[in-house]
Amino acid sequence: MGVVEQEFIRRQNPRLGTFKAPPFLPRAKTKGLGLERLEGERYLSAEFMQLEWQHIWTKTWQLAARLDDFAEAGSFVVYELGKESFIFVRGEDGRIRGFYNVCQHRGNRLCQAPEGILDSFTCPFHGWQWHNDGSLKQVAAPEFFRQFNGGVPADELALPPVKVDAWGGWLWFNMDLNACPLHEYLGRIGTHLETYEFEEWHLVDWQTFEWAGNWKHAVDAFNESYHFAALHPDMIEFGEGHDIPIELWGIHSRMLNFNRTVSEVIDDRETMTPLRAHMMGGRQRQQSGEVTGSAKDVHLQEIQRRRSIENETYLPFKHMNDEQLVHQYHYTFFPNTTFTQTPEGGAVFRYRPHATDPGRCYYDFFIVSRPPPGAARAERPPHRVHSHEQQVDYAEAFKGTFDPVLANVLAQDGSNMTTMQQGVASDSFRGMILSDQEARLRHFHKTIDDFIAGRVDTHNLLPWDHYLEKPEQT
Ligand code: FES
Ligand SMILES: [Fe+2]
Repeated sequence: MGVVEQEFIRRQNPRLGTFKAPPFLPRAKTKGLGLERLEGERYLSAEFMQLEWQHIWTKTWQLAARLDDFAEAGSFVVYELGKESFIFVRGEDGRIRGFYNVCQHRGNRLCQAPEGILDSFTCPFHGWQWHNDGSLKQVAAPEFFRQFNGGVPADELALPPVKVDAWGGWLWFNMDLNACPLHEYLGRIGTHLETYEFEEWHLVDWQTFEWAGNWKHAVDAFNESYHFAALHPDMIEFGEGHDIPIELWGIHSRMLNFNRTVSEVIDDRETMTPLRAHMMGGRQRQQSGEVTGSAKDVHLQEIQRRRSIENETYLPFKHMNDEQLVHQYHYTFFPNTTFTQTPEGGAVFRYRPHATDPGRCYYDFFIVSRPPPGAARAERPPHRVHSHEQQVDYAEAFKGTFDPVLANVLAQDGSNMTTMQQGVASDSFRGMILSDQEARLRHFHKTIDDFIAGRVDTHNLLPWDHYLEKPEQT
């Protein structure tokens, strides 16, 4: 465990003794955010993309990398976001830092490897060097620079830093050095997820998909479950996406996807079909034949079973409310990070804009799981970027790490990206009509507008509960 993470845990853990995430049920009344159509221009316009860069990407906390990636001094990860590239690196003093990946001589990309271990970074062009704490190590042949006659100005030539902090087993960063602290940014909704003890989890796989659609189409696609019945007919055999609870918390939001049940839009909700048994039982219980009875009620039995073993299991059931024991808590932290999880595993999504083209984006899909104590870290498959220009086989991309049924669900989600980008560009398109089940989309786009209009003070997000539905919950 890294130094940053240890510091964070010391700061945060006292709350975990009694704290449980507030349940969604009974539902709070939804605060309406209007009924207007959402125009398509924001997905297409280079000017809008530039405003997002200026007011959102450079002002918000975002995922950088797993803390596990910084196991020793010199461990580094390069991360690309839009036009920028960053180096995140653990220094010899144990501290993890972040820097713009730009040589201070003539602006070359300094580090051109995606990850590794180095005590210093050397620009391949003329050989200027920096230590792994960002300080200048040496200028090549400084005698050629009359500017440096009085001595090389090492402070001025240090790599420009970004702000970093740790939460949930991840390193986060913010380009704004005056940004509010990460734990304030994540706010009370962030503390909900501390009950999952993410710092104990392992990253099992990470794959990136380049899609021919604006990044916001991808965020939108994963932030509502209204599409399950039409797009994911398999998924509603073992989960409910119809009329699910949604809550808006400040600039972030969450929803509850019910697992281990059969959607109410299906007539036969009782029969335990092979698909239902496969997806509701989990590997072990399915093999032991324990998944029996009415298919729609499996989640109720499972909650009881899990509650009954809460003092024996390594999984943190006793910190969790009943919903968390089996269902998927789906959280999106503005602007581009989504956590979806059950106590034993889940996925994290990160959405990234393309450097220049509003019609393209990158979707990072991280599979994470909670291993038993002492479990060895499995070797991770290589990270790959899967381009939309080739036919992507999602099951193949996640071979051995993700159930093919769920990989197919992801393929279905990805299938709309190009066509959404095309459709909203039509002269005939009159704007999106958003239902109450798409309230998170309305909230997300309103938050974008608020950032662009300067209505959000990112240096002090308190009080940041201007959309809050449940102001009394802590
Ligand atoms: S551009 Fe990097 S050393 Fe010259
Ligand atoms: Fe979907």
